[in-house]
Amino acid sequence: MAKPVYVLNGPNLNMLGLREPTIYGAETLDDVKRRTEARAAQLGLEVDFRQSNFEGELVTWIQQARTEASGIILNAGAYTHTSIALMDAIHAAELPTIEVHLSNVFRREGFRHHSYISLAARGVICGFGPKVYELALEAMADILQQQSSAKG
Ligand code: DQA
Repeated sequence: MAKPVYVLNGPNLNMLGLREPTIYGAETLDDVKRRTEARAAQLGLEVDFRQSNFEGELVTWIQQARTEASGIILNAGAYTHTSIALMDAIHAAELPTIEVHLSNVFRREGFRHHSYISLAARGVICGFGPKVYELALEAMADILQQQSSAKG
């Protein structure tokens, strides 16, 4: 049985749909979860979709991913711009990790232009709303495919 891709969401993402809809859109996190799971099924992947407002819980989940997951898709919310702990956890997990953001962080305030997650991630997808999760899954499917053909 293939391991799931962990799709991890950080602080305030539970407020999607209510929170600054002009920036983050009208879909709730449950809607995003449903569309992510649907795309995963089409790609033959399983996902484990989670959200936490706590930095330490996200660190624990990334540590768990090392043995329990095949890859990580991470929207770390504001911890993106502050968390050396999350960056260290991703380095230690030694798994393909894709950073996502609903908004185009580079069109926004200067403090959002720096990401600790990017220093550890394979790539970044941002600015396309909930679609970023589907795009990240497509990239992840390719990476996992390449990994398994390299192993033979
Ligand atoms: C976000 C962008 C972050 O800067 C912000 O703090 C978030 C959401 C996004 O998905 O666009 O909480 O990660």
